[in-house]
Amino acid sequence: MAVVKRTFDVVVVGAGGAGMRAALALSEAGLKVAVLSKVFPTRSHTVAAQGGIAASLGNVTADSWHWHMYDTVKGSDYLGDQDAIEFMCRAAPEVVYELEHYGMPFDRLDNGKIYQRPFGGHMQDYGKNTVQRACAAADRTGHALLHTLYQQNVQANTNFFVEWMALDLIRDQDGDVLGVVAMEIETSEVMVLHARATLFATGGAGRIFQASTNAYINTGDGLGMAARAGIPLQDMEFYQFHPTGVYGAGVLITEGVRGEGGYLVNKDGERFMPKYAPTAKDLASRDVVSRAIATEIKEGRGCGPHGDHIMLKVDHIGEDVIKQRLPGIRDIAIKFAHVDPAHDPIPIVPTAHYMMGGIPTNYHAQVVAPYHGGPEEIVQGFYAVGECACVSVHGANRLGCNSLLDLLVFGREAARQIIEDLERHPHPKLLPRDAADRALARLARLESQDKGESVAEVGADMRRVMQMHCGVFRFPDLLADGVTKIRAVAERAKHTAIKDKSRVFNTARVEALELDNLIEVALATMHAAHAREESRGAHAREDFPNRDDDKWLKHSLYSREGHHLDYKPVRLKPLTVDSFPLKARVY
Ligand code: FUM
Repeated sequence: MAVVKRTFDVVVVGAGGAGMRAALALSEAGLKVAVLSKVFPTRSHTVAAQGGIAASLGNVTADSWHWHMYDTVKGSDYLGDQDAIEFMCRAAPEVVYELEHYGMPFDRLDNGKIYQRPFGGHMQDYGKNTVQRACAAADRTGHALLHTLYQQNVQANTNFFVEWMALDLIRDQDGDVLGVVAMEIETSEVMVLHARATLFATGGAGRIFQASTNAYINTGDGLGMAARAGIPLQDMEFYQFHPTGVYGAGVLITEGVRGEGGYLVNKDGERFMPKYAPTAKDLASRDVVSRAIATEIKEGRGCGPHGDHIMLKVDHIGEDVIKQRLPGIRDIAIKFAHVDPAHDPIPIVPTAHYMMGGIPTNYHAQVVAPYHGGPEEIVQGFYAVGECACVSVHGANRLGCNSLLDLLVFGREAARQIIEDLERHPHPKLLPRDAADRALARLARLESQDKGESVAEVGADMRRVMQMHCGVFRFPDLLADGVTKIRAVAERAKHTAIKDKSRVFNTARVEALELDNLIEVALATMHAAHAREESRGAHAREDFPNRDDDKWLKHSLYSREGHHLDYKPVRLKPLTVDSFPLKARVY
């Protein structure tokens, strides 16, 4: 098949907040930038982010970047790299003000400053009281952010490839990355995008689970491509369950509801969080709140005829506050839970939300990985930011509002680093002859197989296995069984068939390609969870209930070849300040 080739300075895969922030800085610097997106850019999953962006502006309560850093290190259960965390928390106010100047419509205080609300795990004075740190645009912060960045990118002449899916990474014999092979979704046209720098900003993979707050597009495409190109995936055992997904629907109910004064109650009407987190209560970090909810349900205090959910009570904060600060939540509760939160509590349950692991990078967004079994090194030409990357600022558990911050800080930093690197390497390397072969072989397999299981059936089984075997609490027998089962599902995924190739908009082919990526993420998550014999952050093992710093204060690296797991040290040394010493984590 003849494949069209186009050349750019930089190709960015993904048009969520991270990709758009990077693309904007790159285009503003005069580089020729292509952004590929499976959906129209403003439909990327960042649009669903609700509660806010964490930054120590101190507009409502006194705050400091060092308190923010402390909270993030503690929130990560000490698995976060402290150099990257310092870098992010220090830069937070600046990236928020930049966004304000780009036109982001933040909510305002009476004095005209940006409105900030409390959020889980964000505290004053090294954990003493809650702080108001989340900069918000009502409960539609991601929507406002994404539209702001899209408009700025249009003005800066970024080239958007809308409804294009990246299929595979191009690496040459030195291991350097030279672009991607991509497919236009509607027509199946395949193109090689040759670039001096390739930036992955492909978001998360929440669709490995049955119940997820994530959009259907969150299929771990960047991780699948990286894994197939020989890059290991870091810390995949840490998957965050957001405490408040709508029961039965999975749709996110922002932590901002609790930030505005909402709280959780069990079937007896008891406000139970003070039992589990006496200081932060309902605003403890997410892993703590999700486990508390799961415990209430497990011990028979769940709500409803099956005792399988909990209630989020909001009516007491008043209809006016709900309408002004939480209008989107009211809509969601009415549409998906059939209750008006101004009058009745919302039924909720912990729901898969965020992948702390990802493609390993340093805090300049450069991908770092061993090549052919050698030591870890920078992969030339390859960068990753946002949820698909593991910097690692979130460690074993991310704090709410630190993800929008992460994508702004590291999106901007990726662009700075790429500009510096391209000045040193002004000429593109030659494309290898076989640049498109792997991607074309994947497409050819799909074309040739008429007989086989349906993609939907195999995908549904993958989600069932992940949900059942790798949830909020993890049990040894379920994990061991989960490894066997997910490997079996992965085998079946190699022999799926697209039953109806003519399906409208080519969705059957896209779903098959996405399943390849989801399977890579599911395998990595299950294997890494089975191997880690301790409890830390979002990884809660029933058989190893405590954190074990002697044995497990280390990042995992999963390679798809032989499902091999390796480990590397946590970077405990910050850039300019002292390390935060390891402590028991209480809220
Ligand atoms: O609860 C929320 O609004 C989600 C925020 C986040 O994941 O950072």
